[in-house]
Amino acid sequence: MRSLTAGLMLGASSSVLALSPLDTFYPPGINQTSYISNSSNALYGGIYKAPTNGPTGGHPYGVYDYCSMPHPRSQEYKMPGPVANGSVKADLVYLEYLQRHQRRSPYNILPGGENQAYECDNVRPYVYAGPNSNSGIQPVPVYAQTYEDSSNPFSPGVNGTCQYPQITVGGVQDGFQHGKDLWQVYGKKLRLIPRKPNQRVWFRSSESSLTQASAGAVLRGVWPDYDGALPLHQMVSSVDTVNEGYSCNAIGTTLNQIKSTAEWQGHLSVTSDLRAKLGAMLGATSSSWQSTFDHFSDNFQARLCNGYELPCSVSNSSACVTMDMAAEVFRAGDWEWNYYWRANPYVAKYIQVVEGLFIGEIISHLENVLNGRSSLDYSHVFVHDGDIGPVLGALGINALRWPAMASNIAFEVWETKEHSSKSFYARVLYSGQPVQTIHGSLDWIKLTDLIAILRPFVPKDIKSLCG
Ligand SMILES: *[C@@H]1O[C@H](CO)[C@@H](O)[C@H](O)[C@H]1NC(C)=O
Ligand SMILES: *[C@@H]1O[C@H](CO)[C@@H](O)[C@H](O)[C@H]1NC(C)=O
Ligand SMILES: *[C@@H]1O[C@H](CO)[C@@H](O)[C@H](O)[C@H]1NC(C)=O
Ligand SMILES: *[C@@H]1O[C@H](CO)[C@@H](O)[C@H](O)[C@H]1NC(C)=O
Ligand SMILES: *[C@@H]1O[C@H](CO)[C@@H](O)[C@H](O)[C@H]1NC(C)=O
Repeated sequence: MRSLTAGLMLGASSSVLALSPLDTFYPPGINQTSYISNSSNALYGGIYKAPTNGPTGGHPYGVYDYCSMPHPRSQEYKMPGPVANGSVKADLVYLEYLQRHQRRSPYNILPGGENQAYECDNVRPYVYAGPNSNSGIQPVPVYAQTYEDSSNPFSPGVNGTCQYPQITVGGVQDGFQHGKDLWQVYGKKLRLIPRKPNQRVWFRSSESSLTQASAGAVLRGVWPDYDGALPLHQMVSSVDTVNEGYSCNAIGTTLNQIKSTAEWQGHLSVTSDLRAKLGAMLGATSSSWQSTFDHFSDNFQARLCNGYELPCSVSNSSACVTMDMAAEVFRAGDWEWNYYWRANPYVAKYIQVVEGLFIGEIISHLENVLNGRSSLDYSHVFVHDGDIGPVLGALGINALRWPAMASNIAFEVWETKEHSSKSFYARVLYSGQPVQTIHGSLDWIKLTDLIAILRPFVPKDIKSLCG
């Protein structure tokens, strides 16, 4: 048996157990509730710590790093198997790249209050608008600067200079590195991304300022010298096909069905002591904190991923969340994500109602390539964990940990030319590695087969499915 103790040690300088990406991305036993309560699983080789500043590449590169998932990098990038060994000659002809935004402050402030302040005056979230030409009004590049005023009788429960959530300076720096690395692989090496943006590149984000902030940093990494503006496409937020934009009753009713299964109840019961302890310590006893691990996990990782400590009770500074408690929270969070998008009995319907339209949009991009009608070579979409999870679920990922900060899916389409006939193959990388699925490793499959894997998750009639 491998020892997992080293995984518990945190910090940039500490050694992390050398589990491979296959181990850390797809932990065995994650389906079972005993996975959660088994403290010897610790962090299962995952990294949950990053300094305030700087990109993090994971250590060693390729393992599950909650603060910054790995992404394709030229040092480690491998050509698809049959291309690498010379049995097939192929060119990359299309890239559909999805990513979660980079690291950030939390969505969820502890109801009992936070014992540490969050500082964001080291980052400038720009917010300005101008006409669509360089000749009209050129606005001042104003940015949001969050402050507190002692005359305001309401308290957000936390001191500092951040909005919740917002991108942090480490997130900006990480995004820039992410973009530089993508350029090295898909621009310099594979010559798909052009030297400067042209009509065959396309960008999209959710309506969230987090994903928009990531886009600016990542695309600056891709094109450090480009001095124009770029459109970041968005749907109207009330009907957006990412980040649960459109309203659909079936999302809530399906989630309720998922949460009424014996397995879901089982995971709450094995964690009841932990939840009670955290609830009492942090004033987090309401059902929004107790009914899933979303809020605890969000709150703790935002601290750890931005150079802070785990929280302590505001009223008793010696009552603090320990790393063991946090590790159990993270294991429970991983279990929940695997359950939402892989293991629950309603999973196909849940993916259809949450993400089916977006999956359909990906399929239509891929079909355009197949039919020789694509107007694009490179599409990059900045979204959320709640979008990455269901797409990985649709692909049939073997085991799903919570899609971490900047986690990414690269749908690569390759064209082979043999005996003068063209064929299209696909490869799907999850955070830089061929994704391991119930359909096998998606390192090299016919593009039509990839489309066939995804197709069942596209609802025929979403409006009637939503009710
Ligand atoms: C706990 O996890 C360890 C390491 O993964 C494993 O060897 C052990 O069998 C597990 N124990 C139980 C009771 O599941
Ligand atoms: C090349 O790799 C592919 C898949 O990885 C394998 O099926 C094939 O047998 C290999 N061919 C040679 C000549 O090694
Ligand atoms: C927040 O700031 C106020 C005013 O400086 C201070 O009294 C309070 O102790 C701080 N709270 C925390 C939790 O740091
Ligand atoms: C403060 O927390 C510590 C550690 O949990 C505990 O031992 C102590 O009794 C608490 N003090 C008070 C006054 O509640
Ligand atoms: C997890 O559970 C699901 C549903 O029961 C099953 O299809 C899947 O094969 C299991 N995965 C693993 C890795 O045990």
